[in-house]
Amino acid sequence: MSDFKITTDTQEPPLDTAMKVVYQWNYDAEVEELRRLYVKAAEAQWISERDLDWDRPIDLELFAKTPLGTGVPIDETSYWQSLPAATKVQLTRRTAAFRLSNFLHGEQGALMVAAQLVNAVPHTDAKFYAATQTMDEARHVEVFARYIEKLDEIQPIAEPVKAVLDATLETEDWLKKLVGMQIVVEGLALYSFREMRNLTEEPLLKDLLTYVARDESRHHAYGVQYVDRCVPLLGEAQRTELEDFALEAAKTLIDARNAQTLFTTILKIWTEEGLDAAALLESAQKEIPEILAKRGKKHRLGPVQGFVIPTLRRCGLLSERVAKHYHEMLLANFSGNVVGDDLESFLSNVPDLPEDTAAWVLGELKEAEYA
Ligand SMILES: [Fe+2]
Ligand SMILES: [Fe+2]
Repeated sequence: MSDFKITTDTQEPPLDTAMKVVYQWNYDAEVEELRRLYVKAAEAQWISERDLDWDRPIDLELFAKTPLGTGVPIDETSYWQSLPAATKVQLTRRTAAFRLSNFLHGEQGALMVAAQLVNAVPHTDAKFYAATQTMDEARHVEVFARYIEKLDEIQPIAEPVKAVLDATLETEDWLKKLVGMQIVVEGLALYSFREMRNLTEEPLLKDLLTYVARDESRHHAYGVQYVDRCVPLLGEAQRTELEDFALEAAKTLIDARNAQTLFTTILKIWTEEGLDAAALLESAQKEIPEILAKRGKKHRLGPVQGFVIPTLRRCGLLSERVAKHYHEMLLANFSGNVVGDDLESFLSNVPDLPEDTAAWVLGELKEAEYA
């Protein structure tokens, strides 16, 4: 007997969304850059089963060098260093499963938003492009799920990630969907994929992230090129609304309170593996300021300052008004050393968006770019 069911135990209650469906009768290429991106995407399709070597076992020793992604260099503390190698392997493996699970659930959100965009965007080229992205995201969901199951097990979605995905799916404004998904969520993802791909020494994860990051750089380009075309035609009120939508999404994802909740979840996983949380925190409190001080000015900018804000500026969505809010938000979450004490030094610290994002995402990390 098959256990196929129409309503499954693992599904969420349906989410009401306000999306409007738009027909377009002009089939000619109109937004040339999006038409080119669509052709590029069609040419760059890959197949998980054929192009990744799934038979290769995950080398856990190599895997243990994958960064934890905790934002602070917890693995450089004396307590962490004193742990037996086998424990470190377990800790890295389970932390990565947690982190990759949120990538995975984010990919599911991206899959659904991309499919919504096919319906909601008014230009034919933009519909075509969103169709290729929908295919890409399905593949991303497939490969992340498969990798996590090979590594450990899939963990539930973190609340802030769910909140941003819900807001992006729920809005009826397709420009907000583009800004929430293509610019904020995919901007953050691209930055994290780049870091993980560069620093991990586990070959299957590196290969997988190479393929995924290449696709993501196109998704980001779609957002930038399309939003950039639209923003100059918007009225003041609509532009302000878009800026605020991006700000809210970024805030939810990096807010200190949410980061604390995430860290508590990770700490719980670590405790299950026998780590002494009190000893770790004591060691971290004592040593991390010194570790960071030794790095001097070489601070990691992080995904918002290092990538999302440059993207918004490039698209004409970084007015002085909203820049002030970003500055305040980042100051509340990070030190003035990294962020810049005043608005002017903050803005002068915001790098330019790379000319070629695909080359950037696969290029080497500079020393200043990771924690
Ligand atoms: Fe994706
Ligand atoms: Fe994507």
